[in-house]
Amino acid sequence: MIKKTCFSLVMMITILGIVGAAFAFEPGNERKGKYLYRSNCRTCHIDGGTAPALGPMDKTQAQWERAFETYERLECVAEWEKLSDADRTDILTYLYNHAFDSPSPATCE
Ligand code: HEC
Repeated sequence: MIKKTCFSLVMMITILGIVGAAFAFEPGNERKGKYLYRSNCRTCHIDGGTAPALGPMDKTQAQWERAFETYERLECVAEWEKLSDADRTDILTYLYNHAFDSPSPATCE
């Protein structure tokens, strides 16, 4: 009886943990993200490129999170799909950490 209650508790905590992790933004590798952004996104998103110039401080942290949740709707979705989930997380980490409302806003120079 006691053992069963204990097991249920552990299960509950595990499930809550998994559900929580799925919603929270788990930071990736910012340095790698910057490199990936420059080599995979900046190629077009630059002054004189085929898309409007875009750098970390052109959006707020919430706007970046939203863009990464809904990238399927963007014109350049094919470019995003060339990357792995881990690569996209690294790019989001870089953009998020230097967003307009972050402690250290940055352009992509
Ligand atoms: C082959 C060129 C190309 C590449 C590479 C590319 N994009 Fe785009 N992107 C575009 C074009 C074209 C648009 C549409 C521009 C518009 O709506 O004015 C766009 C739109 C966007 C938008 C929506 C417009 C905005 O400013 O909010 C975002 C965000 C974006 N791209 C981010 C990225 C990211 C992040 C990457 C790298 C994973 C990337 N793009 C790679 C061409 C590209």
